[in-house]
Amino acid sequence: MVDKSVEFTYEELARATDDFSLANKIGQGGFGAVYYAELRGEKAAIKKMDMQASKEFLAELNVLARVHDLNLVCLIGYCVEGSLFLVYEFIDSGNLSEHLRGTEKEPLPWSTRVHIALDSARGLEYIHEHTVPIYIHRDIKSANILVDKNFRGKVADFGLAKLIEVGSGSLQTRVVITFGYMPAEYAQWGDITPKVDVYAFGVVLYELISAKAAVVRSNGSSVELRGLVSMFDEVLNQTDPNEDLCKLVDPRLGDDYPCDSVRKLAQLARACTQENPQLRPSMRSIVVALMMLSSSTEDWDAGSFYEKHGLVNLMSER
Ligand SMILES: Nc1ncnc2c1ncn2[C@@H]1O[C@H](COP(=O)(O)OP(=O)(O)O)[C@@H](O)[C@H]1O
Ligand SMILES: [Mg+2]
Repeated sequence: MVDKSVEFTYEELARATDDFSLANKIGQGGFGAVYYAELRGEKAAIKKMDMQASKEFLAELNVLARVHDLNLVCLIGYCVEGSLFLVYEFIDSGNLSEHLRGTEKEPLPWSTRVHIALDSARGLEYIHEHTVPIYIHRDIKSANILVDKNFRGKVADFGLAKLIEVGSGSLQTRVVITFGYMPAEYAQWGDITPKVDVYAFGVVLYELISAKAAVVRSNGSSVELRGLVSMFDEVLNQTDPNEDLCKLVDPRLGDDYPCDSVRKLAQLARACTQENPQLRPSMRSIVVALMMLSSSTEDWDAGSFYEKHGLVNLMSER
């Protein structure tokens, strides 16, 4: 197979980003800044990493650049002049965290949320089961799920954790999992299995329901932080959780959501965030569950459309 990853020159990347100008900067993460670029006629996102590339790193990069899936943000190429740059396809509409909590974005409708969950689950299933070698993402969070112009979700930064690990050339691995998304077995023992991603994915599902961040200040207190997982656990442990569950739903949705679907998504999130990693479902079964939920949500969408437009009455009057 022809090696598809492209090596760019620094000059080309600088030209594409207006010399890495502030105006072109679209984000800042733990490992560097991200810039918007127009590269060879295509929109791209260039991640300028705060590290140098080692030989192992470049070998890993070549493996990564061969992984392609509709639900993963595609790595197009790289540049190793001066600093290390990763070039990705540009995803138009920002990250999921901005859609849920940013003020400048319209609230995402319920069916779109379920679909974004399904898209990202498919992306994760792909790296857990269909790549050689298989990958564990290790940094699943709403900022790493990007939303395209058709409101489809794409998983970003997959393979980055491993890239950094092999690239650092030392046994000491950097903790990449973001606080609030980290399961106990990882925090305590550093155990890394695909179930680490499943846990973090469950937290993202809770975010889709509530639009709250993975870690929230409890009762407005600035010192006491509370995880979304324990907040939902408390409600879902009640014998009849429906009323309190509705109170956790993103207020920007108003009444525009089917309670049944919210309950099912919350139950799925709960299964994903169980303490015992072996009891958490695999990404494959999560995809199946979300496919069913997504199709029933679309039926609900159609139903509420008819209701809103009085078509139900119209049809019954015939
Ligand atoms: N391929 C891309 N297309 C569009 N925007 C991107 C892309 N990659 C990253 N971004 C934006 O840049 C931000 C910073 O990215 P990153 O450095 O990965 O940090 P983090 O994932 O912690 O937010 C992301 O949150 C996202 O909004
Ligand atoms: Mg990222």
